[in-house]
Amino acid sequence: MLSEILKYLVIAIGSYSVYLVLEIIFPPFNFPKTIPTIPFYVSFLGSYENLDQEQIYKRYLKDKLEKYGAVKIYFASRWNILVSRPEYLLTIFKNEDVYAKSGNHIKIPGSVMASYTGDNIISAHGELWKLYREVVAPSIQFPDKEPVYKNTKMMLEIIENELKNSDTIAIADILQRYTLNNVGNSMIGIDFRALEGSQSFMHQKIKYVKSQIFRPFYMNFPYFDKFPIPSRLTAKREVNSFRNWYGQKLIDEHKPELSNSAATKLVNALKDGKLTEKQYLDNAVIVMVAGHENPLLLMLSVLFILGKNPDLQESLRTEKIPLESVIYETLRVYPPLAQIINRCTTKATVLGENIFIPKGVYVGYNNLATGRDRGIWGPDADEFNPSRWGNTLDEINQNYSQAKRMATLPAFHGRKRACLGEKFAIFEIKECISAIIGKYRISLGENWKPKLTPSGPVCPLGLQIKFEKA
Ligand code: HEM
Repeated sequence: MLSEILKYLVIAIGSYSVYLVLEIIFPPFNFPKTIPTIPFYVSFLGSYENLDQEQIYKRYLKDKLEKYGAVKIYFASRWNILVSRPEYLLTIFKNEDVYAKSGNHIKIPGSVMASYTGDNIISAHGELWKLYREVVAPSIQFPDKEPVYKNTKMMLEIIENELKNSDTIAIADILQRYTLNNVGNSMIGIDFRALEGSQSFMHQKIKYVKSQIFRPFYMNFPYFDKFPIPSRLTAKREVNSFRNWYGQKLIDEHKPELSNSAATKLVNALKDGKLTEKQYLDNAVIVMVAGHENPLLLMLSVLFILGKNPDLQESLRTEKIPLESVIYETLRVYPPLAQIINRCTTKATVLGENIFIPKGVYVGYNNLATGRDRGIWGPDADEFNPSRWGNTLDEINQNYSQAKRMATLPAFHGRKRACLGEKFAIFEIKECISAIIGKYRISLGENWKPKLTPSGPVCPLGLQIKFEKA
């Protein structure tokens, strides 16, 4: 009798395991048949192969996305639809209620990522989004730019100091401290003191959290964050204690006279009962995270491009070309947020002419693919060519605005949910890059092997820059 029960138990567990594996290998039967499927293992390649995101994209995604504009892809414990064709992107951006934002707190609840950024202005939908926007949008759209000048000077002093030890610097840490200070001073209204001394508590904590979130295995299988794995439990505990510390810091240090700062706005909304404590923390964290991480990624990519290209540096120094065209071209070729999958269909719908998408399916976009699409950007789409944006600043800016409007460059999303921090990000990137190349000729570190991140946000991995006085 017991052996009979055991036998059935083994069969049941075995069948369930097979079912789970098949669910990973094949997309659900009701997914659209009119677009290709990317092999399920592609999303994990960055974890076990020595490939970066550009190589993975070229090898497995490029041809299919260029041809069909959309594919089925396995990511974050589920099958999704990934889109790159501007026409499809515009449909998604315009139909907010069908392709509703549904961030990590809903998609991967219990994950380290979700416990860090929660439900916030970027990921929320409908009334909640309006509420969060009312509280923090003004601080992001109308920052106090003044502190950036002082921070830029401090950042240059740190570089100068480091150069006493070696002519080559792993630059990411310094720039992270710089962007952190910028968002703190200009938008949040709190001095994070990230550029003072060699260690900053804030910077160290953020680096730890980032290292836990962007572990390729858990990004693909956030499901495992639900299990009591000691390292993941520690990561969640650390995230929580950091969030609480940071939320309290804003309460203690906000200056009511800085009435447009995010800290004052958030603390007031908490006191007035407009936001719950969790909503307060979620939004306080996202302003700080999006506000410093994303510009940092783009700064690193611009430095990477310039480090490879001394002539381009010289053209910028002699003002032969505007820095804007280099920044826009970098956004096209190395969009900091290459792949974003955070919308879920609220009803069955048809994308384009024949992509039938059932209700409850996650739909996302791939910026790398849109930016590199030869059908949009021509046969040289893979080449870095800032002159494609035009010659005069007016022409360059017009072409850039047009590319955003038509969703041929969706690096800052677009339309109603377009990035609110874009102008500030471009401003501080211009300040940073002009200051660095105004003072130094840069090149790639001789021992650094050019490689992008294997998954997650796009930037050169561990970039090392060699500096010589200009
Ligand atoms: C190079 C720098 C940046 C890039 C590439 C970038 C990119 C993006 C993208 C792609 C989105 C849409 C996300 C989605 O599809 O869900 C977005 C939204 C957003 N970004 Fe940025 N971002 C940058 C800098 C910033 C900065 C400095 C802030 C300041 C806090 C910021 C705040 C926001 C906010 C609040 C939204 C949500 C807007 C809404 O839905 O109403 N971003 N950004």
